[in-house]
Amino acid sequence: MPYICPICQNPLMLHQASKGYYCSKKHHFDLAKEGYLNLLPAQYKKSKQPGDSRAMMRARRNFLEAGFYQPMAKALAGIINTHQTAPTEMHILDVGCGEGYYSRQIEAYSDDSKKLDLHGIDIAKNAILAAAKKQDNARFIVASTNNMPYADQYFDLLLRIYAPANDQEISRLLKPQGLLLIVTPGPRHLWQLKEFIYKEVKEHAVDAPLPEDFSLIESQRVSFKIQPDRDQRMALLQMTPFAWRANADVQNKIQHSHDLQIETDFILTLAVKKK
Ligand SMILES: C[S@@+](CC[C@H](N)C(=O)[O-])C[C@H]1O[C@@H](n2cnc3c(N)ncnc32)[C@H](O)[C@@H]1O
Ligand SMILES: [Zn+2]
Repeated sequence: MPYICPICQNPLMLHQASKGYYCSKKHHFDLAKEGYLNLLPAQYKKSKQPGDSRAMMRARRNFLEAGFYQPMAKALAGIINTHQTAPTEMHILDVGCGEGYYSRQIEAYSDDSKKLDLHGIDIAKNAILAAAKKQDNARFIVASTNNMPYADQYFDLLLRIYAPANDQEISRLLKPQGLLLIVTPGPRHLWQLKEFIYKEVKEHAVDAPLPEDFSLIESQRVSFKIQPDRDQRMALLQMTPFAWRANADVQNKIQHSHDLQIETDFILTLAVKKK
């Protein structure tokens, strides 16, 4: 079983009749009708609606579903295909999965999707609900990435795309020789959008810091140009950490500039757990 109880850390078992999960101490968690599991007990919630707001989720959903980041998703799936652990099932977890866009892409581009056991975790319940509705062949839970209620060494690969994570938890969840695939922005990511906001745009440092007990296998740079329409540009802006710097005047300029092409730039870092 992949899950452990978020209250007492004992294994969670499936109760076939009720489709719920319970531990030996009788803590009980229902499976929602959409198929996801809420493993974030109310007493552990720091706010009423933790995680990204509905507006941020809507913006990200509209932008991603329009396919603008598809080449990056395809590259991710390519890396996973190369490392698929045939002939056994490959257990994969998308940490901070949001609405599960990348999980669906990985299934769609997989060479052998029947051998994938896909999981996603996010603290935003609405995002997990949407993810579960859209992908029957994946299992999603609501929980914090600081305290991931999965059994030790359950996963072969962990995916972290623009999401917060805890190094110790990442290491605990991976098998020895397990893989960590991280996506971070490359030096020219969204350059033309930043030009509206900063007086002088600077190139970012490229390295994704790896947790201590991991070593680098490969680092791949994926960059391409996109041309989102006016509404999609605003959605993209909302997805960025610099959105708050864009005042009404800047937003207006971004919205009304003609034929704006924007560079994307991603660094895909693949590392392996040493022990
Ligand atoms: C920038 S989004 C990235 C989502 C997705 N990986 C993507 O690239 O589209 C960050 C995600 O992390 C989630 N998140 C933030 N803090 C979290 C935490 N402590 N535990 C779990 N998820 C968290 C948010 O709800 C959000 O869905
Ligand atoms: Zn328990």
